[in-house]
Amino acid sequence: MNLLQRFLLSSLLLCVTASEDFDWTKNEKTSFYYGTFPTGFSWGAGSSAYQTEGAWNIDGKGMSIWDAFARKKGKIFLNDTGDSSCEGYYKFKDDINLMKDMKLNHYRFSISWPRILPTGLKSEQINERGIKYYDDLINMLLDNKITPIVTLYHWDLPQVLQEKYGGWQNVTMVNYFNDFANLCFDRFGNRVKYWITFNNPWSIAVEGYETGEHAPGLKLKGTGAYKAAHHIIKAHAKVWHTYDMQWRSRQKGLVGISLTADWGEPVDITNQRDIEAAERYIQFYMGWFATPIFNGDYPQVMKDYIGRKSGQQGLGVSRLPVFSPQEKSYIKGTCDFLGLGHFTTRYVTLKNYPSSLGDSYFADRDLAELVDPQWPDPGSEWLYSVPWGFRRLLNFVKTQYGNPMIYVTENGVSEKMLCTDLCDDWRMQYFKDYINEMLKAMKDGVNVKGYTAWSLLDNFEWDEGYSERFGLYYVDFRNKNKPRYPKASVQFYKRIISSNGFPNQREVESWKRKSIETCSSSNQLLAAARRQSQGNQEHAGMQKSWPVHDEV
Ligand code: NOJ
Repeated sequence: MNLLQRFLLSSLLLCVTASEDFDWTKNEKTSFYYGTFPTGFSWGAGSSAYQTEGAWNIDGKGMSIWDAFARKKGKIFLNDTGDSSCEGYYKFKDDINLMKDMKLNHYRFSISWPRILPTGLKSEQINERGIKYYDDLINMLLDNKITPIVTLYHWDLPQVLQEKYGGWQNVTMVNYFNDFANLCFDRFGNRVKYWITFNNPWSIAVEGYETGEHAPGLKLKGTGAYKAAHHIIKAHAKVWHTYDMQWRSRQKGLVGISLTADWGEPVDITNQRDIEAAERYIQFYMGWFATPIFNGDYPQVMKDYIGRKSGQQGLGVSRLPVFSPQEKSYIKGTCDFLGLGHFTTRYVTLKNYPSSLGDSYFADRDLAELVDPQWPDPGSEWLYSVPWGFRRLLNFVKTQYGNPMIYVTENGVSEKMLCTDLCDDWRMQYFKDYINEMLKAMKDGVNVKGYTAWSLLDNFEWDEGYSERFGLYYVDFRNKNKPRYPKASVQFYKRIISSNGFPNQREVESWKRKSIETCSSSNQLLAAARRQSQGNQEHAGMQKSWPVHDEV
């Protein structure tokens, strides 16, 4: 066999072994599949505490790292904060009515750690008023037959733990987080059966401790993210064991983690270097967390690359921490279901980063990310709509981690700040195509049990403030009552839910038109309300920094 034949064969083998029944080489990227989901498939929408609750210092809540970070000038777009956000703390009953109207089967929300433990420590103070808020929320959801899926950590670490111990840089967080989780199991576990330990730990580690774009804003390049991730993985495992040993037999619930990952597609699927670069992209993203949790240790490619680069930089040990044999077996298998967040895709190719450029998580991967300029990007700068990437990611999870039970915990698209158009055609298209790719993946044998649209409401989009709106419902943040208005995608999603999928071409093709019919009246209502609040502000002589530039 000559070199070329060998090369072609090896790339073919890689394609074939990547999945048993999903043929990567078939470019079946655009066809639509009509069909429905299995009976009992769960449809939901999501939110998180800091992004929606507001009430940042109410009823005894302590400060979180996001309360502190958002107060620093220049960290958040327009220096906005989540202080009041959607006022979800006060309006949860209205919001549950919205969910009821959509006939959601589940609602995914997170518990704010400092709302129930103001200093972070269970031994110091339990805030019963915070517990009552979540009790009421859970009870009302259950009264309305909506299953709560609860995230324990959606990024809002108690500020005291950051100041005293350095947050996730410090291994003591493992025990503190375990105490907090144990308290939640104790108080809510008789009613909550789906627990997610961490939301998107990649983001906590990389944006919180490597680039500093997110709270706590540390820029510990090349080490901070790896250390934070190491402690987060240990904390996840400990909480899973706590549940397993102390609560599972009584409460009969499940504990998982929610990992977010883009799909990485080789620029040239016949080029071995591109195939390997794309593999690194996904291993450094999702594999970083999923491989220890499902298989017991970091992906080999991470150990190889970070180890080699650390050596070239003259370090005696790898910047990637090491799990002891006991830790590996303790961590392996600590996932009853995998929560999956997915939004977009990148093309990936090899790019060497010489060590002279300094160390960083990004340089460690030796790759470049590309996008196709033809991919639609209606909102966030990073979010291109590439539905076929979702099916590939789902199949990757199936083959890499032994076909785990999956709940899609986040999927959705944003629009730009100046857009006040509730007829969100592009979001309907996004949901239609992404949900359809998920259906195809299930036909491929991927074990998906539920889907969660991100997000129920427009909310505080972290460092982007209120400038990127992911909601099914539009929230008028300029009005202090924070009224909600349905976008057309509410109607569209409702139709997917009531049909449990995509029954037939004739019906599905009418959905967009029918959904659009209802949004023009909402558009008018919103436009009138905005004109009125504009008038009031001018009347009161308010200097508001919010740009006024309606596109209605
Ligand atoms: C993932 C995060 O978990 C969520 O909080 C955020 O709003 C979405 N991505 C969109 O960026």
